[in-house]
Amino acid sequence: MAAIHHSQLDDTFYQPADSFFPANQKIGLTYDDITLATLYSEILPRDTQLDTALTEQLRLNIPVISSDMDTVTESRMAIAMALNGGLGLIHYNMPEKQQLSEVSRVKYYVQGLIQDPITVKPDQLIGDVLQLIEEKKFSFSTFPVVDDKGKLVGLLFGHVVKPRYANKKVMEALTPRDQVRTITKKELGKDPIARADKFFNEHIGIHKLIVVDDEDRLHGLITMSDVERITLERKAQFKPARDAQFRLICGAAVSATRNAFGELDRKRILSHVEALVERGVDAVAVSTAHGHSQGVGDTVRVLRDAFPKLAIIAGNVTSAAGVEYLADSGANAIKVGQGPGSICTTRMVAGVGIPQMTALYVCSRAAAKKKVTILADGGITKSGDIVKALTLSQAVICGGIFAGCNEAPGDVVEISGKLYKQYRGMGSYAAMKAGSAARYGHDKNPAQKVAPEGVEALKEACGSVDRVLAQLIGGIQSGMGYLGAANLAQLRAKARYIRVSPAGMREAAPHDVVELKTGN
Ligand code: XMP
Repeated sequence: MAAIHHSQLDDTFYQPADSFFPANQKIGLTYDDITLATLYSEILPRDTQLDTALTEQLRLNIPVISSDMDTVTESRMAIAMALNGGLGLIHYNMPEKQQLSEVSRVKYYVQGLIQDPITVKPDQLIGDVLQLIEEKKFSFSTFPVVDDKGKLVGLLFGHVVKPRYANKKVMEALTPRDQVRTITKKELGKDPIARADKFFNEHIGIHKLIVVDDEDRLHGLITMSDVERITLERKAQFKPARDAQFRLICGAAVSATRNAFGELDRKRILSHVEALVERGVDAVAVSTAHGHSQGVGDTVRVLRDAFPKLAIIAGNVTSAAGVEYLADSGANAIKVGQGPGSICTTRMVAGVGIPQMTALYVCSRAAAKKKVTILADGGITKSGDIVKALTLSQAVICGGIFAGCNEAPGDVVEISGKLYKQYRGMGSYAAMKAGSAARYGHDKNPAQKVAPEGVEALKEACGSVDRVLAQLIGGIQSGMGYLGAANLAQLRAKARYIRVSPAGMREAAPHDVVELKTGN
């Protein structure tokens, strides 16, 4: 091994966290205020490991979590996050029953299994099916045919879905049930992709595998192209984040709900979390704007007493006392961030909050003493911010970065030829009216005077979560390579910081060029 060159001169300029932050104690610093110094490295970015433990039981393969916001995380986002090795926190701005089904969708997601395939009915006309394909712009034309009870009647193959047969009924054109090869849910076993792969090898020319339940009702569909894609993805460096039963992991937000008398509604909170636990939730997040408050502490305590092993995330705080309070109440992982979010106006409306790097430093030192982890929540706009955040935290929580993805809730809108998705703060007037008011300590009743602490906005549509995460992960790995850090613990140990001047900040972004293409 080459000698590690270490210079005292470097040490006077580039300081580790425990010298740097106390030396800058009179000013609140955030991501762009600092930069990290590079170090001698024998680590290639692609060899770095990104796994992180939020609690003893809750491990992620990448340190990235999607926010519990109603324009960011429902089941589609949570599935995509877990498939990439991260975690999605399902928001709470929906009826409790719906949140339970969102969690179930993640926990019972079988990769490659299309759970609600488009079906047709035997008495429909082929012309109707053609119209459906045209209207919905389907790129496929083979459909399972089911009766009113969902039982499989046959398969309508694409080669008969032609205008020539438009006046014929599906019944006349379908391949009947006894000639359709199927597999039962049980036969799929623990590794449905491997089982489906075997099926496609054994049945030359069949590209779609129909899955039925014990009563021969349609349960789902697996396509050969999906199996091939997934088999390729399995060789990827970062594996999906799964629980002990091989199900994708999933988190869900809850809030410190109050009853009509303004008291903490312990009964309701407990029964909802009990139902979430029954569905297999891996973590609950008691998400509020002010975590260092009696209601949040009491909620965490109630949950900890009732569910000793449940991973509890709680927040948000920006002080050491806040971390200690939530840790003492029973939280395992603590969200740090008050007002850094891209849609937040808390700092302007309420005049409170601490710039994120200073808040993370203070909280990380308190967290280490209490043996809890911290999550850097909000304000992340680029992968470099994540690298900086991970020098002081175990994972980051991002909203804005994912809100423009296909997997975020909501439709794409076109404005002047550009595509956007809606993104709003959970403390915005619209979100509070829809239910999130408790998170900001307000009443849902719109007649009451409340000061919104978030804005309603748009994010440019940015494609799939896979694509966005690939960029972020690449950036994190690069940062670790520059610091010679093989894993996140080494990144935390090796980080050295220096302040950046406004001119230094300008120097850090592309400048004095006409940009033709952005970085991603
Ligand atoms: P980013 O920067 O990733 O931030 O878009 C997402 C985080 O912001 C928090 N959040 C809010 N904070 N008012 C606030 O002050 C709001 O309306 C609001 N909505 C979300 C939350 O912590 C989220 O993860």
